[in-house]
Amino acid sequence: MTHPGHPHFSWREGELHVEQLRVRDLAREHGTPLFIYSKAAMLEALAAYQRGFAGRRAKICYAMKANSSLGVLQVFARAGCGFDIVSGGELERVLAAGGRPADVIFSGVGKTRAEMAQALQAGIGCFNVESEAELEVLDEVAGRAGRRAPVSIRVNPNVDAKTHPYISTGLKGNKFGIAHERTLAAYRRAASLPNLDVVGIDCHIGSQITQSDPYLDAMDRVLDLVDAIEAAGIRLRHIDFGGGLGIDYRGDRPPAADALWAQLLRKLDARGYGDRELMIEPGRSLVGNAGVCVTEVLYLKPGEQKNFCIVDAAMNDLPRPAMYEAFHGIEPVSRPAAGAAGAVYDVVGPVCESGDWLGRDRSLAVQAGDLLAVLSAGAYCMSMASNYNTRPRAAEVLVDGDRAHLIREREQVPDLLRGERLVR
Ligand code: LLP
Repeated sequence: MTHPGHPHFSWREGELHVEQLRVRDLAREHGTPLFIYSKAAMLEALAAYQRGFAGRRAKICYAMKANSSLGVLQVFARAGCGFDIVSGGELERVLAAGGRPADVIFSGVGKTRAEMAQALQAGIGCFNVESEAELEVLDEVAGRAGRRAPVSIRVNPNVDAKTHPYISTGLKGNKFGIAHERTLAAYRRAASLPNLDVVGIDCHIGSQITQSDPYLDAMDRVLDLVDAIEAAGIRLRHIDFGGGLGIDYRGDRPPAADALWAQLLRKLDARGYGDRELMIEPGRSLVGNAGVCVTEVLYLKPGEQKNFCIVDAAMNDLPRPAMYEAFHGIEPVSRPAAGAAGAVYDVVGPVCESGDWLGRDRSLAVQAGDLLAVLSAGAYCMSMASNYNTRPRAAEVLVDGDRAHLIREREQVPDLLRGERLVR
């Protein structure tokens, strides 16, 4: 049986497999908590976008904040992707993983002067500028470095992405982008600054978007601006529509990437921009359902109001439930023996917070020592992991067919103490 939404994760002979390998064996070898990714699942998710853009001039810039582990970046760099970064640290990761700087775009509302200089030095493809103040600073930094900075302005199209408020970014009240009404003036200013080259326009309206309409609305608004900007004599080489496409966590039904883009490209063609260079910045939809986190049951704690299943992964490894009350499927790695007693549990970690839960009210037939897989854990889990409670971060394995590559060693406590000093 294949797991819905997890094409390369399947149960065979009662054991969860990632591609050709048994999850139980990987957990025994590498310990828990353990992130396991399927390379085929990542490439399959990418292929849906590539099909959608067949015959077009389009660049897929993986939004690496979703999962920035070097081994994951390497998969996308080798597959020809560019990268959407949001810090100088992410740029260093791209370069370490073999990505091409010219295929890097730099988003984010708070780029520092040092990060701008670093990115100019590396020769990145585009700065996605998010405020008028940032335009001025970037011009100054580029001037000092004796370089020209390629820029795109991030438009806030004021459309509702109909997603969780914490991951909605395209509304007026959000900190992101330049308001639709101010965009033309910002482009005029950018075009007048001596050390900037205007190359594009971008928008990103939110994350875990499961409907097409917000994208279609945002595209119309962005293209209205392109009309106006080009009428003012400023030519835009590319249009970047951001990321945000959702995945199936719990029966969510986002459009497939190729189907969504067939719809969007029809609009683009109808409005006369079909031959323009396109860029997108998908993150979650490329990696989210390509990973699971394996955790061991430490204790069962029955209670009057609630039963708790206490596992060795926690909110520091999997922060999404605590941060967004997000749902992740939780399944036993081995099918329980027929007749095993089941109960309804809150699955919680060892961290000293009531917010440290991974799943609520889950029916499970488990006992201490069993392994559970937290599903859809490829995006925004390891990249948001912390060391809270002085918990070293988990190890990561990338499976490719019948081979497992350890792409991140389990962190050790001395790694956590490094750089700290006692007061003399
Ligand atoms: N481009 C920009 C400018 C972004 O800010 C983001 C995500 C993306 C692209 C990629 O979006 P995606 O395709 O992954 O939806 N931690 C949250 C998600 C935060 C998303 C932040 N920005 C979560 O776990 O749901």
